[in-house]
Amino acid sequence: MPNQKTQVGIVGAGPAGLLLGHLLHINGVDSVIVENRSREYVIDRVRAGVLEQGTVDLLHAAGVGARLKREGLRHEGLYISFQGARHHIDFADLTGGKAITVYGQNEVVRDLIDARLTTSRPLFFDAKDVAISGMNSSTPTIRFRHGDADHQVQCDFIAGCDGFHGICRPSIPDGVLTIYERVYPFGWLGILAEAAPSSDELVYTYHERGFALFSMRSPRVTRLYLQVPPDEPIENWSDEAIWTEMLERMTTRDGWRPNVGHIVQKSVTPMRSFVATPMRHDRLFLAGDAAHIVPPTGAKGLNLAASDVLVLARAMKDFYACGRTKWLDQYSNVCARRVWKAQRFSWWMTSTLHRSPDETAFDHQRQIADLDYLTSSRAAMTSLAEQYVGLPAEVSFESAGLSGP
Ligand code: APR
Ligand code: PHB
Repeated sequence: MPNQKTQVGIVGAGPAGLLLGHLLHINGVDSVIVENRSREYVIDRVRAGVLEQGTVDLLHAAGVGARLKREGLRHEGLYISFQGARHHIDFADLTGGKAITVYGQNEVVRDLIDARLTTSRPLFFDAKDVAISGMNSSTPTIRFRHGDADHQVQCDFIAGCDGFHGICRPSIPDGVLTIYERVYPFGWLGILAEAAPSSDELVYTYHERGFALFSMRSPRVTRLYLQVPPDEPIENWSDEAIWTEMLERMTTRDGWRPNVGHIVQKSVTPMRSFVATPMRHDRLFLAGDAAHIVPPTGAKGLNLAASDVLVLARAMKDFYACGRTKWLDQYSNVCARRVWKAQRFSWWMTSTLHRSPDETAFDHQRQIADLDYLTSSRAAMTSLAEQYVGLPAEVSFESAGLSGP
């Protein structure tokens, strides 16, 4: 049975696991990454695509931003649309020049896999029966099957970066975690279409028939979403029905509408807010979706994963450089501050822009007034803008061994 030793065993090769592995590598800390899906699946999986300014800066500081710089679409604002009119929110003006970048999460993952392969540190795809044990011993262990061989990796620490449905969080004994959760009574039907984006910036629409979002992936690919019931079967939606509903919700009085094109991918995602704390149990540290989920309305999921692993990398760097455990002990508290602020923002964006099945006529009028206030008050727009481009990281890049943006 192949036995291996490493410093940090990482379960999951999504953005959290891969970026953590890279930040540790920069600090000379060894890791083994174990992923249960294939490389192709991880790279092709369609996910969100909005990077906060701080996430872009982090990827550059970590030396994995070259393609992002070439291909990422920098947006200095967005539109909020309701009652047939689009209202611009100018991030650059309201935040002193900050912006977001549209770059698919799968492209981030592709860049991080390339960086990992260059380091020659271990990265296993297609691992079967992944399990962790010994979190409260000095050598927590990851076991898995790869090809015909059983593997055992002895670690100093395990990082649970295996997403919401992974095995790390459920490996923590009952009674340790407190779970905070809100499930929304709607989901998003998302499509990728071969159509040139008809706007340079995202358009979030509140419509009588429900929320809709205009986004993009490239100068030739549009990404669109519709609010639908959470358990809506995608088979209920022909391509024609999707376009009819998208255009109905998104077309504004001035004639703006998304360009229509061939739909290359479509799916329905339910929406929830979820936090499990503490994000550490003995020698297991949870990061990213393994510890928290946000509804996608504020586009915070990937960005939170990046800020968690920055905090974790700083703590591990400090431990390996001088044996100090202070930041490992503080990991969960430091992350939770930013996580809860992003939870609050994502819940607010979601509540403000969706129609709820149990809303009253009062709620509906209040929501319109919310949107009217949001799009006419500089203070309200500034609040949205500073949260959308991303609140400051809790730790500096320098403290995590990076040379700064
Ligand atoms: N063993 C090994 N790997 C696993 C296991 C397991 N038992 N279970 C899940 N994984 C892998 C998944 O296949 C996935 O590649 O863990 C990875 C987790 O990645 P993500 O789900 O992408 O989560 P994370 O890295 O935390 O990224 C945060 O931001 O945009 C949001 O929700 C979106 O993925 C998102 C994220
Ligand atoms: C996306 O482009 O996939 C996207 C953009 C903004 C969001 C969510 C998803 O709020």
